[in-house]
Amino acid sequence: MPVALIPAARVHAELLAALHKVCFAAPWSVAAMGELLAMPGAAGLIAVAEDSLVPAASGSGPCGLVLWRAAGGEAEVLTIAVLPPWRRAGIGARLLDAAMAGARAAGAEAMFLEVADGNAAAQALYAGHGFAAVGRRRGYYADGDAVVMRCGLLAPKGDLV
Ligand SMILES: CC(C)(COP(=O)(O)OP(=O)(O)OC[C@H]1O[C@@H](n2cnc3c(N)ncnc32)[C@H](O)[C@@H]1OP(=O)(O)O)[C@@H](O)C(=O)NCCC(=O)NCCS
Repeated sequence: MPVALIPAARVHAELLAALHKVCFAAPWSVAAMGELLAMPGAAGLIAVAEDSLVPAASGSGPCGLVLWRAAGGEAEVLTIAVLPPWRRAGIGARLLDAAMAGARAAGAEAMFLEVADGNAAAQALYAGHGFAAVGRRRGYYADGDAVVMRCGLLAPKGDLV
């Protein structure tokens, strides 16, 4: 099924929070989503299955999100997630590609993110896009450490620079 990536705005805060809640044990509130998108340099995308334009279609609709922020020549992935039924279909990769391109277009030369130590799926996604571990934040999450990953953005597809 075709999936479109739609720019996220503050008006989408409720939808973003609903998507986030399905995907994370510590969900972000509607207010937090609105505040994130109001930050200078913040941007986001919502993945939408295009068949959701057909009212009777089942299993379609908003299915993923990515939020990032670019400032001072650096960027950070704030969150990225795909609803469980839609995973392993390339949507996370498309969202990350788009976030990296958006950050690069905003002048960022490198992108950073934090990922839970045991989150093998996300770490594989990031490694496949050129991210490499550069540090660790102990106790960053309620249930464990975060791995800090970095990717240079000056070369296509996030090759290390
Ligand atoms: C991480 C996440 C966004 C990946 O989304 P996705 O749409 O399933 O990812 P894709 O289908 O685009 O996969 C891209 C690559 O990521 C890696 N990957 C994704 N899911 C994986 C899994 N369960 N196990 C191992 N590798 C995985 C693979 O390298 C995959 O490439 P391949 O399919 O060619 O092998 C999704 O699993 C998710 O929403 N997880 C919960 C939220 C989360 O942990 N977000 C990250 C927080 S830091």
